[in-house]
Order: sequence, then structure tokens, then C-alpha cells
Amino acid sequence: MNRREILVTSALPYANAPLHLGHMLEAIQTDIWCRFQRQRGNSCYYVCADDAHGTAIMLKAEETGVSPEQHIETIKKSHEADLAGFDIALDNFYTTHSEENRELASRVFQALKSNGHILRKQITQAFDEEKGLFLADRFIKGTCPKCKTPDQYGDNCEACGATYTPAELIDAVSALSGSKPVEKESEHYFVDLSQFDTFLRDWLQSGSLQNEIANKLREWLDDGLQAWDISRDAPYFGFEIPGHPGKYFYVWLDAPIGYMASFANLCQREGISFDHYWAEGSKAELYHFIGKDIINFHGLFWPAMLKSSGFRLPTQVHAHGFVTVNGTKMSKSRGTFINAASWLKHLPAESLRYYYAAKLGAGVEDIDLNLEDFVSRVNSDLVGKVINIASRCSGFLKRLNDNKTLPEIANQQLWDKAVAASPVIAQHYEKREYSRAIREIMTLADRANEYIAREEPWKLAKSDDTRARAVEVCSDAINLFRLLAMYLQPVLPELAEKSAAFLACSLDWEDQPQSLPNHELSEFTPLMTRIDPKQVEAMLEENRATQAAALPANKAEKAQTGPDLIDFKHFDRVDMRVARVTECELVEGADKLLRLVLDTGAGHIQVFSGIRAWYQPEEVVGRHVIYVANLEPRKMKFGLSEGMVLCTDETGGNGLKLLEVASSIPPGTAIA
Ligand code: 2FM
Ligand code: ZN
Repeated sequence: MNRREILVTSALPYANAPLHLGHMLEAIQTDIWCRFQRQRGNSCYYVCADDAHGTAIMLKAEETGVSPEQHIETIKKSHEADLAGFDIALDNFYTTHSEENRELASRVFQALKSNGHILRKQITQAFDEEKGLFLADRFIKGTCPKCKTPDQYGDNCEACGATYTPAELIDAVSALSGSKPVEKESEHYFVDLSQFDTFLRDWLQSGSLQNEIANKLREWLDDGLQAWDISRDAPYFGFEIPGHPGKYFYVWLDAPIGYMASFANLCQREGISFDHYWAEGSKAELYHFIGKDIINFHGLFWPAMLKSSGFRLPTQVHAHGFVTVNGTKMSKSRGTFINAASWLKHLPAESLRYYYAAKLGAGVEDIDLNLEDFVSRVNSDLVGKVINIASRCSGFLKRLNDNKTLPEIANQQLWDKAVAASPVIAQHYEKREYSRAIREIMTLADRANEYIAREEPWKLAKSDDTRARAVEVCSDAINLFRLLAMYLQPVLPELAEKSAAFLACSLDWEDQPQSLPNHELSEFTPLMTRIDPKQVEAMLEENRATQAAALPANKAEKAQTGPDLIDFKHFDRVDMRVARVTECELVEGADKLLRLVLDTGAGHIQVFSGIRAWYQPEEVVGRHVIYVANLEPRKMKFGLSEGMVLCTDETGGNGLKLLEVASSIPPGTAIA
């Protein structure tokens, strides 16, 4: 088999907060894949870095009273410690605030410019005169124009869900200084993405993206790509654009270039050829693991940048979903906003690695960390099934056979099945179908345990006549255990290391694994301990206490009392009914809204719904949806909204999906 040359990245975490379990999903998914490749004998470099630029980081440093450089240095140390704590085997963890990145960003920009891909445009933006800063939407707050709740940020209201432009906020102020923002003009640089239309359409066809992602991106292309604003005005923490004083690269320009820069830094240190991996036409493979919230950057902007500047394109971009805890978004008040460090303080890294692997497929579905299920799954699979095999059988070999395996396998059929699973499990890892790999492995573990339970070596060992049989069963069991440890190594590197020490052999992945004949084992030491639900409770309790204390007053109150309760009377007053969507269209000037006309069974009404990002108008027509029929009509800039259609809201606000009923249920039907 040819030795593949692979370079892998995971998304660069922002240098403004500690890593949490969402970051760890990606790091673990990537690490499993890289470890698997190395175990197969391929060359696989895994690089990452902190995403160190941008206004948020500049402000965070200011708030902490340190320079941005000091701030990102401190955060980088904490990120490195967390990643190491979860056994993430990175070859390099760097920062985007590096000389390598400055040079590469400038090289990419020069190429874009000389290829005529850069536009200059005057734009008008809110400006905080006191701070001397242009304000992104999230730094503007004011009173919601609809429900009049004060202190609402940017372009949507947390209290009533209304969407608006920051200009519509009542008494808008800068969240940074409290001063009233003014409108100010400035020149920005843009990448003219429309010039990449044909190139990007080919790229989306190339099989380098999951189908669901390619489809979503194609819709965006069909809508016409807007020019992408890649400059920010001083003061900004980032790289000044060479030749354009006072203008800085927008953080998202130099962030993906940070993948290259981190690798360049590794190349420098280890004498690897950078061009071998990045030059156009490179035969090496390049993979980016990312979350589904940043597919536009990686699926459209990044390939366009690479293309223009003459670098190779990614072999594949792998997107994953978000993490929910106990079925909902991670929440500070419930203590389920769990930082990596907090997990490590209370629970073993490998338990999370295993649970994530057991749930991860190759798609972009969210992964739920159900903490009760987590405890029982880790205990029953790892301690109860896998480790149990070694712990029950090792003692008999030691006592009855000089701690050695036998020359032959006794239960050939069982062994053959475990060997035959090798290429199947390898395929699953290769395709990122980890949950399938785990299922295969646990089926093998179940069979091994059934064999042991049936033969009862502890009884066989008691009599002279059957002692030899006890040794046979235990020798088989230890051989099977070795295969399980080998198959689990990408997920559980610590367990694999301890197992390799006990087995006194390598766990390199073999397509046709051989048994260990007459092989002397080392001392068996406990490989893993059961998780006590109390450990989970202690972690949540500690988080609740520390995080609720850090919440702003209005949210802290909610945190103490739990969710706001409504009485039955209030609930009963909400009149939900089925309606059929008869028309749907875009709303000019509102990029989040669609205008729907609903057949309510008793007439037609108009409703505006914030689902624009997730549906094309024509996809909505004909659906039987659920709407609130007795909502006070709301006058919006675009017209009257006479009800509200109900959606599910996936974690991260990343997917509103219409709640629907079968088309056989007629409009007007009440929901009870
Ligand atoms: O979304 C984020 O957390 C970004 N910091 C990811 C950057 S990935 C890459 F492009 F650098
Ligand atoms: Zn509101």
C-alpha cells in the first residue's frame, strides 16, 4: 500500500475565551482521524492555531487591562493545555498573529489584487466617536422597536425575537462607550466573488464537500455572491494591509491562511517542504475539519482565495454539527456550558472521546451529550465489555500458563470474525463514520464476552481435567482483546498505550491481524475505572455556581429560578392552528425574512418569518405548517404580520425548520 501524505487542520479557535465541549467535538473528531491515518502507516500532520485577530479580541484585552499580544499569549497557553488534556496529538498549535501569517496573507492579497479580484468601495457604518471605532452590529444596543425591551443588541431582540436593522433600535447607543453612534463613511476593500462563479460551481461539483453542504452553498451561488468585505479600519488588532496605511485585513481573511502559516512554521522546524503540500498540483492530501456554521468561509471564500493566489485546493472540507447537552443548547444557568478544563477536572478525557466517537457520523447532525446516557454507555461499553475481557482472563494465564498465550487460537470461528472486521472498521474510520466503527467493535466485544461467560474459565480453572481448557479460553480472550485495543486506538490512545504495555506488543493497524503465539504478557494493571454519576453532578454543580455568578443580573435571576413558568391559563390562550402556505416570496431590504401567505381555512393572512437563510421561497409553498392564530398583528417596515409560524430552532440559531403536519390535515385544524 502506498504511504499517503496528509495534512489536516481543525478550525482555529478564537483567542478570546477558553475552549468548551463544542470545540472539543471538532478536535476529537479530527484527532481520531489523524491517529487512525498514522496507525495505518500514513504520514499525517495535524496543525491548528489560535485565531488571534479582530475587534472582539482587541476589546477583550482592553477589558482585562493587558495588551492584545499578552492576552492572546495567555489564552494560547490555556488552549494548548486543554488540547493536550484531551490527548489531541497536534503537530503544531500556532497563532495567526505570526510573521509567517503576515507574509502569507500579504502574498494572497497581492495576488488577488494583481488578478483584478479586489474592489474598493465607500461604505457607511455606525461609528462610536468616543471610542474612535466603527461598530459591528453586535456592538450596538438599544430598545427593541417592537416589544420595547431595553438593552437589545444588534439586529434581533432576545425577548420577542423580532429582527430589525440596528438603525431601527430605539435610543441606540454604542455598547462600548454608551455614546450615540453616528454614521460615517470609509473606504473598504472587497473580494469580487462574482468573478469566481464558474470556478466555484465546478468546485462544488468536485466531491470535496458533503452533499448537503454543497447543495446549501449552491443555493447561495444561485442567489448571486456579494462582494466580500475584507478590510477594517484602524484601530484593529490584526495585520495592516501593505501599502494601505490605516486599513487592516479582516480577521476572516487571515484566519484560514493561518492553516498555512501554522504548517509553514512546522516545516521550518522539521525540514518539511511547504510547497510539496501547498503548491498547485500537489499530490499530498489536504483536509479541513470545521463546524457547519463556517461553511461559507471554507466552501466559497477560501477556495477562491487559494485559486487566485495559485495554491492547491483542499482535498476535502469536512463539516460537523453542534454539541447539545441533555438535548438543549449549552447553558450557563444550567451549568451545562462546560469548558474543556472543567471536564478534565472532574472526568477522564477518554470518556468524552469515546462518547463523541460513539455518536459521530460523517454528516452535519448535531451531537447530543446526554449525561445520563454518557455515564452508562462509557461504563457498560468500556469497563463492562472491553476491559472486562482482559481483567477477567489475564490472571488465569499468569497463574496457569506462565503469563503466556498459547501457540494456537482455540475458537477459530470467533477469531476469524474479529480479523475480518479489520478492513470494515478501517473503512468506517476513513469515512468518518465513527459511530459505525464503534458499533462493529462493540459487537466483537459482545461476542468475546459471550464466549467467556459460556465457558466460565473461573470454573474450568478449578479442576485438573479442565484447566487446559481455561487457558485456551483465556488465551483466545487476550488475543481478541488485543484486536479490540487496536481498533479502538484512534479513539482511546491512553487505553491503547496501557494495553500495548500489558500485551507487550505493537498495536499498529494490520489488515490481516495475526494472533500472538506463545507470547509473554506483562503485568496487568487496571486500565480504566468506572465513572460515578457523582463526578458529573459535581462538574455541573461547580459550573452552575461559577457561571451563574458571572451572568448579568437579569439573566442570573432566571438562572436561580429555572426557566420562566407560565400558568395553564396563559398557555391555554395560545391558539395554534394548521395553515397551508399558498404564496411565499423574498422581502426586499430584509435578508432574513420571507413573506408567507397562509390559507387558514377561514381566509388568507400574511406572515413574515425569519427563515430566509434556510428556505427558498418555492420550497415553502404547499407546506402545512403550524401558526399562532391569535397573535396581535404586528406592523413591520415591510407590511403587517398577522401571525407567527412555528419552527424548531437548532443549537446556535443555525437552522430554523418549519414545524409541519401531514398535508391531509386541513387548514384551520386546532393544535391541542
Ligand atoms: O468560527 C471560529 O471560531 C473561527 N475562529 C474559525 C476560524 S477557522 C479558519 F478559517 F481559521
Ligand atoms: Zn423585542
